[in-house]
Amino acid sequence: MKIASAQLRNFRNHTETELEFKTAANALLGENGQGKTNVLEALSYLCLTKSFYAANDGTVVQQGKDFFDVRGTLLLDHGTEQTIRVSYDAAVNRRRYFVGEKEIVTFSSVIGKYPIVILSPENSSITFGTPADRRKFIDLTISQSSKVYIDDALEYRRTLRQRNKILSEAARKKMLTAADKASLEPWTEALVTRGAKIILKRAQFLREFAPYVSDAYAAIVEDGEAPATAYEPQIACSPDDSAAAVEERYRRMLEEKRADEIKTGASLVGPHRDEIAFSLNGLRLRTYSSQGQHKTFLVGLKIAEFFYLKERCSETPVFLLDDVFSELDDPRSTRLVGFIENLAQTFITATSESVFRNALQWNDERQKIFIRNGAPVSEREMITA
Ligand SMILES: Nc1ncnc2c1ncn2[C@@H]1O[C@H](COP(=O)(O)OP(=O)(O)O)[C@@H](O)[C@H]1O
Ligand SMILES: [Mg+2]
Repeated sequence: MKIASAQLRNFRNHTETELEFKTAANALLGENGQGKTNVLEALSYLCLTKSFYAANDGTVVQQGKDFFDVRGTLLLDHGTEQTIRVSYDAAVNRRRYFVGEKEIVTFSSVIGKYPIVILSPENSSITFGTPADRRKFIDLTISQSSKVYIDDALEYRRTLRQRNKILSEAARKKMLTAADKASLEPWTEALVTRGAKIILKRAQFLREFAPYVSDAYAAIVEDGEAPATAYEPQIACSPDDSAAAVEERYRRMLEEKRADEIKTGASLVGPHRDEIAFSLNGLRLRTYSSQGQHKTFLVGLKIAEFFYLKERCSETPVFLLDDVFSELDDPRSTRLVGFIENLAQTFITATSESVFRNALQWNDERQKIFIRNGAPVSEREMITA
């Protein structure tokens, strides 16, 4: 897929921005706070129906306005052109998504059609952060390739909330009444059936994903470090287990934890407590690795994600790289930007074009877009400012 153009209206600091894109690298350049990342966020709305980081559409609407609107044209691998429109009306807090004239009501049906791989500063939490950050990463990757998984994950989250509500009530009363017990029962069963599906899918995903990570690493690192990504589910499981077997184990562990659950008022067993272990040469990344190794690992994961999604979605993902080169040393950035923009259409934000100096030749396929104060400006305007 390629993104041919985008129009942003009342979208953060972009009042009325129209952009045409090139098929290889699109560098978005400008000082901090000018609206570069906002452009990437708009592309995320077009491709995923939502922001890649804002939880709340309301904060995206330009201050003082009551709606935003993003339009764009996508060119799919097999040649079809699609016009996308995402609009949000603050008065009714409603986001709408259109492909051509047709409104898409079920947003999850869009996920995976227009895959994107995002690398942004927030992503450092994937390797540095908590297990929840790693679960979020694999969930987003699996979601882009499996609609069933999205539905299971949403339903699991809803079930967990309901079940925790009953448990926290029990914790407050310091007991589980017969009525509470009766209302807990169906939620426990729902948690177990949905949860087992999620666990099995994650196990399967990590088994399939591992070779992609090794390949990506081999492509970007010269010194032959061996990366590993391993699933460490709370409920032991192999991808070949039957759902019934995982459910049975799950039920048993919940029973064992019942007293603790009533004491703490929360569900203590399930995929919401899984860990995904990253390691290099057999050593845990979190405990043993340097800053540089963390960054390289993250880039490796993202390149692996690219190839994985390309295959699973039968559509070439677009890369959105937000500020990633500010922190990498020069030769490495140069190599990386060259490598990535050979794979796919790439959008890269940076405050200075120096990171591209040796990597890219500006030509028909590559361009610099200068952004100032929420609008594109010419290079000349940029220099004379
Ligand atoms: N809802 C909003 N309305 C108006 N301006 C906004 C809104 N949200 C963010 N901004 C502005 O957008 C700018 C940040 O844009 P961003 O794309 O993150 O900058 P950068 O070029 O550093 O990537 C800031 O000036 C911020 O005030
Ligand atoms: Mg930014």
